Amino acid sequence: MAGLNVAVVGATGAVGQQMLKILEERSFPIKEIKLLASKRSAGVKINFMNRECTVEETVPDSFKGVDIALFSAGTEISKIFAPEAVKRGVVVIDNSNAFRMDPDVPLVVPEVNPHALHKHKGLISNPNCSTIQMVVALKPIHDCFKIKRVVVSTYQAVSGTGREAIKELTNQSKAILDEQEIKLSVYPHQIAFNTLPHIDVFDEEGYTREERKMMNETVKIMEDNSIKVTATTVRVPVFNAHSESINIQTAKKATVKEIKDLLSRAPGVKVVDDPANLLYPMPILANGKDEVLVGRIREDNSIENGINMWVVADNLRKGAALNAIQIAEYLLNNGLIKVR
Ligand code: A2P
Repeated sequence: MAGLNVAVVGATGAVGQQMLKILEERSFPIKEIKLLASKRSAGVKINFMNRECTVEETVPDSFKGVDIALFSAGTEISKIFAPEAVKRGVVVIDNSNAFRMDPDVPLVVPEVNPHALHKHKGLISNPNCSTIQMVVALKPIHDCFKIKRVVVSTYQAVSGTGREAIKELTNQSKAILDEQEIKLSVYPHQIAFNTLPHIDVFDEEGYTREERKMMNETVKIMEDNSIKVTATTVRVPVFNAHSESINIQTAKKATVKEIKDLLSRAPGVKVVDDPANLLYPMPILANGKDEVLVGRIREDNSIENGINMWVVADNLRKGAALNAIQIAEYLLNNGLIKVR
């Protein structure tokens, strides 16, 4: 069969499972698939493209003969195994934070900066989920009106933390409704019926690493150091799809109609903005969808050239698995990957 030898590292995880689903849905050309995870999952059977595949433990030699590896097993695993894969001639698309800000590693959202892929040296980073959906909405506006400043607050689903966090929200919700004691394991506080203004670790200036990722990655992907970004990232008791309240200030005046027209034509964006009919982006609308939904677009008259909007996307799909596979498709379609 013509196609690539593909490895998915973290194939049993929340993002890994979506990667397999999307590879199937988009009929990605696959010769052999290798499902990799930790030793704990070795031997587990997973159905992929009507074939029963066996999960293997990830070891350096897992990558022999692989053309492309999609990593989503966390930063530490990427730090250990991504260089091993690259050493063996594999092109790695890494969903972790391990290499994103390395100047030698392209950080890519295909709707925004696909050209960066032409300089890849075997390792490509997939940006943070909240950053991806934000830059898909911001790029067309930046190109026309030049964004000077972004103030973003996120409402992030638990699926972004992984499988165990999804279970924790389910179990805590049931326990609370049954008036039972809740158990804490993934999050430091109750997540059911609560919100946590805390995603990833805090730094000495009081920001979380998730906030820093949004601030730093946005500038790298948009390739413009002049854009000022500040972020507050919040975990909410939603299973899947992240929401963001985004306030921007542009150099050139933009009307609501101009922004709506622009975003209606933008790749990967769907404008859902009809308040009169109670239509606006929500996680339940974005769940399972490829597009970034944008609505509640309105002028912010408290500043010069201000715009407010509400942006929602499926964080496991566009925020992670889909974006990685779109990168793989671009590499393939542009001859940027050697097929063995
Ligand atoms: P495993 O199922 O064997 O634990 P999530 O983000 O949903 O928590 O998933 C994390 C993914 O990373 C899972 O597929 C998990 O596999 C994988 N993983 C965890 N530790 C390792 C490891 N040491 N080597 C390879 N994969 C790992």
